[in-house]
Amino acid sequence: MNIEALKRQAAARALEEVRDGMKLGLGTGSTAKHFVDLLGEKVRAGLNVVGVPTSEATRIQAEQCGVPLTTLDEVDRLDLTVDGADEIDSALNLIKGGGGALLREKIVAAASDRMIVIADDSKWVDVLGRFPLPVELVPFGLAATRRAMAGAFAETGNSGQMVLRKDKDGHAFVTDGGHWIVDAQLGRISDAPRLAGLLTSIPGVAEHGLFIGLASLAVLAGSQGIRVIE
Ligand code: 5RP
Repeated sequence: MNIEALKRQAAARALEEVRDGMKLGLGTGSTAKHFVDLLGEKVRAGLNVVGVPTSEATRIQAEQCGVPLTTLDEVDRLDLTVDGADEIDSALNLIKGGGGALLREKIVAAASDRMIVIADDSKWVDVLGRFPLPVELVPFGLAATRRAMAGAFAETGNSGQMVLRKDKDGHAFVTDGGHWIVDAQLGRISDAPRLAGLLTSIPGVAEHGLFIGLASLAVLAGSQGIRVIE
């Protein structure tokens, strides 16, 4: 089975958790895109939900699919967020941000009672870090922020190259929030919860891609079928 079919299967399984009247966080990326697409079909068939998109790309897709949207200024809490991930470990800690939407994704996940992460099973890892860790930075003071990040890596026994993410024209990739992204090639992340705390405390770091303790369920689709992990 091809990878897009697996992603769609994971999205379809997550859709089974959606109930009428729910307020939903809508993730970003190719897997979350399948979820929004399938959700749109349900909405057009009469399901009553509202969604908060985690990126401009998802907002545009959701509008095209007919999913009614709201904002975190208009609703208190969300019932459920469904989003993809770049890596998932057995504690359901994640690396996210491959698509550059990590800041809004984390705000939306933190405002949700539950987060379901959906993926093909290639995203399942023993130790986070093979996927470069995205860190979203305020452009001002970039070199100073990078030095502080290197300090946080050293303090947690991590090291690796930091690469400024570029767009297709070779310019710095700019996020929906107007920030830049540095991808940290750490290989294996030692003590991800502690590293997450240290990165959060650095002025100039808008957000980082370690999602610790946010996901409550993972739906992984593979050639052997679907695994649901709590
Ligand atoms: C975007 C993300 C995505 O969820 C993550 O990159 C996974 O994307 P895909 O489903 O395309 O593999 O974090 O910021």
